[in-house]
Amino acid sequence: MLELQNVSLTYDPSTKFKKEALVDINLKIQKGEAISIVGHVGSGKSSLVQLFNGLIKPDSGFVFLNGKDINKREFNSKEIVKTVGVVFQYPEEQFFAETVLEEVSFGPRNLGFSEGEARRDAYESLEIMGFNADEVISRSPFEFSGGEKRRIAIASIISMKPEILVLDEPTAGMDFQGTKNILSHINNELQIGTTVVIVTHNMDEALLISNRIVALTDGKIVFDGTPEEFFKKKEIILSAGLDVPFAVSFREKALRCFDDFPFCRNSEEILNFVLEKKVEKR
Ligand SMILES: Nc1ncnc2c1ncn2[C@@H]1O[C@H](COP(=O)(O)OP(=O)(O)OP(=O)(O)O)[C@@H](O)[C@H]1O
Ligand SMILES: [Mg+2]
Repeated sequence: MLELQNVSLTYDPSTKFKKEALVDINLKIQKGEAISIVGHVGSGKSSLVQLFNGLIKPDSGFVFLNGKDINKREFNSKEIVKTVGVVFQYPEEQFFAETVLEEVSFGPRNLGFSEGEARRDAYESLEIMGFNADEVISRSPFEFSGGEKRRIAIASIISMKPEILVLDEPTAGMDFQGTKNILSHINNELQIGTTVVIVTHNMDEALLISNRIVALTDGKIVFDGTPEEFFKKKEIILSAGLDVPFAVSFREKALRCFDDFPFCRNSEEILNFVLEKKVEKR
């Protein structure tokens, strides 16, 4: 449904600060996928996801939504706003309104919903993101803590019920509980069929959430495939400065004792396998 074809992007092209941020990117995102975009600092992850909703335009190549070029003048920009919701890496860059209500209800209002409907969607999204809506709607979005701002930013995007939800490092700097809440919300979105693209540095998170990993190095896609395949590619993981998830390194060690140790996504799956083994032994 969303497709990037031979996309390249260079910042400040005719200056000495020229930076090739993305080079010949080809990517197809299908409905219901859960994709993690990973890569070292400055590898082009944020630039890539901002191409998804037309916020940045490529220097060459195309971005198609359901076969239509989103950067053509005749393309109806509301269609992309409605379909692809991007939550920024730094929520402050996204905020513009004086109150949380105005911020979170802006999307639905902009899409043509009535004041009442937009308010209802804003309330619902704030509650989903763990707020008591009545307590926060009149406050300025800028006066919250980093984690709270991030949850408000997510609420302002999910209030539009996008088909593709793109989150740029949603759990960076969050504590354990905050991370758990956000991941559980992402999981709920996946359950209802939303396509989710998440930019992350946390490989445990990538393994838990996604069924596809796209890795960038210096603006190029160096891997696109399943988590199981990705975590075998030690040279890519190391050169991108990424970690191997706990479940993967545990399995590598456990394979020395159990050659049938399956690929696991988290400690719960590991525990289930170990418990089954114990039952078999009896
Ligand atoms: N607005 C801009 N103007 C000029 N250069 C930019 C701009 N935005 C990004 N860059 C440069 O483009 C490259 C890719 O940046 P980008 O923000 O996409 O990387 P990233 O993978 O998201 O990094 P991080 O992990 O730090 O968030 C970097 O070298 C960055 O300095
Ligand atoms: Mg970034």
